[in-house]
Amino acid sequence: MTLAQPKFTWPARNASAEEVLRWGVAEFGEGLAICTSFQATGSVILDIAAGIAGDAVRVFSIDTGRLSEETYELIAAVRRRYGISVELVAPDSEELSSMLTLHGPNLFYELPAKRRLCCEIRKVRPLKRRLSTLDAWVTGLRRDQASNRETVENVDVDEEHGGIVKLCPLASWSDAEVFEYAARHDVPLHALYARGYRSIGCQPCTRPVADGESSRAGRWWWENEEDKECGMHFSAAGRLRREFDVMLDQVLPARRPYSVK
Ligand code: ADX
Ligand code: SF4
Repeated sequence: MTLAQPKFTWPARNASAEEVLRWGVAEFGEGLAICTSFQATGSVILDIAAGIAGDAVRVFSIDTGRLSEETYELIAAVRRRYGISVELVAPDSEELSSMLTLHGPNLFYELPAKRRLCCEIRKVRPLKRRLSTLDAWVTGLRRDQASNRETVENVDVDEEHGGIVKLCPLASWSDAEVFEYAARHDVPLHALYARGYRSIGCQPCTRPVADGESSRAGRWWWENEEDKECGMHFSAAGRLRREFDVMLDQVLPARRPYSVK
């Protein structure tokens, strides 16, 4: 098999978060944007990126319309602290209206398929539209967040979004490292952490967790652990591709980096 030539030199697999972000900013400029839901990982990434690019850093969030009031308060605080405008990407109003008319506002509690439908209309499709205008995006995915995230790379080609580059600068960080950084740098954090929340998404689909529960136990708590993805990062086909990629990497360790776009 002949592999296409890489377009550029990738950061090392063990590059620091700052090195990964510096590389992304230098390589993609305005074609790169941070995608954040204002959880602690996103806040830390934003702080590091602001140190590199100042107020030129591009940041967007998917405003599903069902976020908690505390998320909106944090967005306001982040705008003040870093002097950046956070772009809020909304679902398509006709798609939303059609879904709500057919299934009602709280469809997610009724059936797993309806929950996926809501995530698709409110998050996944708006994200796809936004990513189609970018060359690279930055997310807060970490390997220790869930079993299906154990293969996350710090930089990868995002085949599910047209082959753009996906940066996960905190891929190897632990929860503790994220909160230590935030404390050391006085990073504004989501108010719900102080109330027992560990992973924060839309208000009706997120609850606090008890001691000993996994951080994602409070997300879509009525569903099976392995189904807990909204589809922004892994579709069923995407999960399979990741497993295939990891196996291929093991057989052909020199394969990465492969071509983009
Ligand atoms: S999810 O799939 O369960 O919703 P999670 O909440 O762990 O994902 O967040 C993982 C990453 O997805 C975040 O670090 C962020 O980059 C992105 N993300 C999730 N939700 C949103 C959102 N509403 N807006 C922007 N980015 C988001
Ligand atoms: Fe809908 Fe809940 Fe998904 Fe938010 S997390 S988009 S409210 S199903």
